[in-house]
This record gives sequence, C-alpha cells and structure tokens, in this order.
Amino acid sequence: MRKPIIFDCDPGHDDAIALLLALSSEQLDVKLITTAAGNQTQDKTILNARKLLSFIGVHHVEIARGAEKPIVRELIIADNIHGETGLDGADLGVPIVEESNRSALEAMRSILLNAEGKMTIIATGPLTNVAILFLAYPELKEKIECISLMGGCGFGGNWTPAAEFNIYVDPEAADIVFRSGVPIIMSGLDVTHKAQILKEDIERIRRIDNKTSRVIASLLDFFSENSPPYYLSKEPHIKTAHLHDPCAVAYLIDQTLFQGIDCYVGIETSGRLTTGCTVVDINRRSGMESNVKFLFDIDRERFIDRIVSAIKYFR
Ligand code: RIB
Ligand code: CA
Repeated sequence: MRKPIIFDCDPGHDDAIALLLALSSEQLDVKLITTAAGNQTQDKTILNARKLLSFIGVHHVEIARGAEKPIVRELIIADNIHGETGLDGADLGVPIVEESNRSALEAMRSILLNAEGKMTIIATGPLTNVAILFLAYPELKEKIECISLMGGCGFGGNWTPAAEFNIYVDPEAADIVFRSGVPIIMSGLDVTHKAQILKEDIERIRRIDNKTSRVIASLLDFFSENSPPYYLSKEPHIKTAHLHDPCAVAYLIDQTLFQGIDCYVGIETSGRLTTGCTVVDINRRSGMESNVKFLFDIDRERFIDRIVSAIKYFR
C-alpha cells in the first residue's frame, strides 16, 4: 500500500528534486502539496510549485498556499542560494496547474479528516505551516504517522554557526513541531551534507537527454554554483550542491540508504548565538524521551541512482 503524503515545501532547487522523487515513487502517494515561505516569498514558492508540476505533467495534485511569514518573526529568504525566482537557472515555462482555492491549513485539515488511516508529512522548508496545523487542530496529530523533515543539524549550521536555514527561519514553529509528540525523522545537515551531487552526476543526468533532464541539469548547475562550500568535505574548493530535501523523501522510500539513531532533539528559540539551533542529545544527557530519528549517514551512490531514476521517469 502506498504511503499517503502531505508534502510541505519551499521550492527551491532541492525541494524541486525532492518533489520529483516523491511524485515518481511507487511507495508514496502525494495527496497534497502545500507551500511555505523560506527559500523565497510565498508568492514565488507557490508559483515554482505550480510551474514544476505543470512542466512534468502532474495536474492531479492539489497545491495550496501556506503562510506568508513565520509565526512571530519577519521572513528571511535564501535568494543568495536559489535566486530571484527561487528556482533560477532554467525556464520551466508557463504554469497551467492552478493554485487551490483552499488555504494550506484548510486543505491539510480536510485531507487528514477524510483520510482512512494515518498520513505522513514530508516537510522540506520552514515548519510554519505544520506548526499552524498543530496549533489550530491539535486533535489531527493522531492522524499523522510521522513527519519526515529536512532541517536542523547536530553540528555546524549553514545559516548561522549554530542553525540550519529551515529551522532558523521559524524557530518557534520548529519548537511546536518537535514538541508535538508526532514522531520525526530528521534529515539534518549531518546527513544532507553527505548527499552531495557531483559534477559527474549532473553530466550523467544531462546525458539522459530528455526535456526534464535538460532542465534539471541546468537547475543543478545553478544550485552548485550558488551553494556555499562545505568545509569538511575532502575538496571544499570544488563547487557541488547538497541534495538536502530529497533525503527527507528518500528515507520513506528506502530506509536502507541511511543510518540513524533515536534521540531527543530540542529547539533553541532565544539563544544569543544559538537561536534556531537543534540541540541533538546524541549522548542522552537530558533524560528526555526520544522524539526524533536523527539521520547521520547515507549511501550516496545508491541515493543518486534513485534521483536519476526519478528524472528518467518524467521524460
Ligand atoms: O538548509 C537547507 C534547506 O534550506 C533546504 O530545505 C533548502 O531548500 C532550504 O530551504
Ligand atoms: Ca527547502
């Protein structure tokens, strides 16, 4: 039985690849896409989601608009990485897939209420929409099997020294989600920085030579050029992109790609140097119950093979 999915994202180059992986998977059934403000403003992330689904010919999945900004803070965006449109580097054409007439909150509530069994949430942007769902309808938590999210880090933030971007944009939302009691699978930077896509992988995608592969290769060229160096890699001077968001999808498709450990993770919302930090209690010092499966390793080659297959799927 395919796992029913609500996919909350802020496309975003790696969100786009994550959507291709989810939408082409035999294991997953994407029932709803909701968009968050993060990589770009809400107007741009929902437009990018519409453009992507129109481009790959997926017209049956509802795309619903989420929050315009974080719960309490002002929005910060990652246009330095994803560009002015939020998906710079290729032209996805005119969107024919329309935005839903329901808000993300209304659509999430309706789909969860009407679901026969439990659903899984994939979250690859700031957690604002998921937190609002839990604040507005706490009773719906019991309809959620787990949240597979990209966010946080046990060591080494990518937006501040302590914080990863998705968590840093809306730490209050992340705190609500991590304290919700809903099981979390956390693809933080510790694993996603190992999910590198190398130049030879991009050329392998370009050689597929279909309309999707040509556009994805161009998007990945841009993403590689604009991604910050990862200083702990063997060759930090070589520009590569990290496929952060696809990790949150790939785990649900094939857990054997990853290594993880159950532990407690808390969110810092008011530290002078540490706001947005995911405090990962890997050595069980807090005495708190585990709320997260913290992923820390990936079989990169097999992961990339799955990405290539997803791109081939949408010829
Ligand atoms: O820190 C990486 C995360 O921030 C990814 O989800 C990327 O899309 C950006 O949203
Ligand atoms: Ca994202």
